[in-house]
Amino acid sequence: MRNLLFRRKNIADLLKKEGTIQLKQSLGAFDLILLGVGAIVGTGIFILPGTVSATHAGPGIVFSFIIAAIVCALAGMCYSEFSSSVPVTGSAYTYGYIVFGEIVAWLVGWALLLEYGLAVAAVATGWSSYLSALLAGFNISLPTAISGSFNPSAGTYINLPAIVIIFATAFFLMLGIKESTRLNSIMVFLKVGVILLFIGVGVFYVEPTNWQPFLPFGVSGVLSGAALVFFAYLGFDAVSSAAEEVKNPQRNMPIGIIGSLLICTVLYVVVSLVLTGMVPYTDLNVSDPVSYVMQLVHQDWIAGIISLGAVVGMMTVILVMSYGGTRLLYALGRDGLLPKSMAELSPKFKTPVKNTWVFAILVAFCAGFVPLSKLTELVNMGTLVAFTIVSIGVIYLRKNENIPSGGFKVPFFPVLPILSFLMCLFLISQLSIHTWIACGLWFVFGLIVYFVYGRKHSTMN
Ligand code: ALA
Repeated sequence: MRNLLFRRKNIADLLKKEGTIQLKQSLGAFDLILLGVGAIVGTGIFILPGTVSATHAGPGIVFSFIIAAIVCALAGMCYSEFSSSVPVTGSAYTYGYIVFGEIVAWLVGWALLLEYGLAVAAVATGWSSYLSALLAGFNISLPTAISGSFNPSAGTYINLPAIVIIFATAFFLMLGIKESTRLNSIMVFLKVGVILLFIGVGVFYVEPTNWQPFLPFGVSGVLSGAALVFFAYLGFDAVSSAAEEVKNPQRNMPIGIIGSLLICTVLYVVVSLVLTGMVPYTDLNVSDPVSYVMQLVHQDWIAGIISLGAVVGMMTVILVMSYGGTRLLYALGRDGLLPKSMAELSPKFKTPVKNTWVFAILVAFCAGFVPLSKLTELVNMGTLVAFTIVSIGVIYLRKNENIPSGGFKVPFFPVLPILSFLMCLFLISQLSIHTWIACGLWFVFGLIVYFVYGRKHSTMN
């Protein structure tokens, strides 16, 4: 029984190409950085610097962003080592299969489904409210009944825009990753442009007195702020799920992951500095702080452009997170832990068309009917669980003799992987008890699925 649960995948076998239809290898380092920035910059930058500085960290949110970035960079290096050593799809799930065995892999995969699924649903919901705000600027208002999650007392029944954007994304993903990254690139340039515009205009309105006091909530505020703004960095791990579709992954994966994290950290820190410098942090507890402060200084046009950028920016997050989710389902189906149809590639598009639509339907259901504002913490939890496994997994990976040489290696081994592991645990400890309980229930459900289905159908049998 024990052997069955902890049976592991052989790296040499994984690197041999199986099956008849292969995913196309079409992505380079620059594509990956764009994919990364596309996945990372979204709701986080447009909402969290305001709400978290107002309620948790004050201008010290800059430090929260830096701490969260360090945790992500450490985990990102571990991800890079894995994805350059074992360039197969499935991200942390596949890595867990190689070093820890099937049951751990399944639980990591299950945690990642939570991350990708709820992140897509949450961002789509946020997208829908920004869209409403943008349309309101043109005096267009959507009927209340179809523009919010199920809440009859408020007169809302379904969040139709959120559902529409999820299905539109699924359609693009079905066409293929190269086509979707092309679309992604355009949107990434647009949203980074909008953020630079904010910085360029906002910097002239900064009053350094607004940075006094810099740490109104002390160090503990900065730390709990870090656990919350962690959400803003999510997505870089989705880059590693593109591994099978990357040219020269040994070189390109680490550049893609670390490069996109670096760009985002700089953007987040500068935006936070400008934002908290423009108005007192206590005024920032609004749902659209970045365009709100522009309205305060009577730059209404800039505020409108920023709202547009936010709408576009969130679309790329939805795209890349959906991409990660579908490729995860693909890996789970290919390994028999979920039904085989999840791993069927369409001969025409060479993409997993069926699982793309299954993922879209499930996520659209959440986004359309369930209010997700409280669930972002759950997204953080799912991700941190995966990060801990990847961090500690690197130590076991190094012992494996089948690893091809020449790939990226985490520096200061084994100090950095252990530090990464501990910092992830620390951030997990900062999350609320409700999140712990909800996450626990999700894992119990996952174990049931495994024992009822996965264990019997695993291709390892
Ligand atoms: N990092 C993503 C965002 O901030 C999830 O929207």
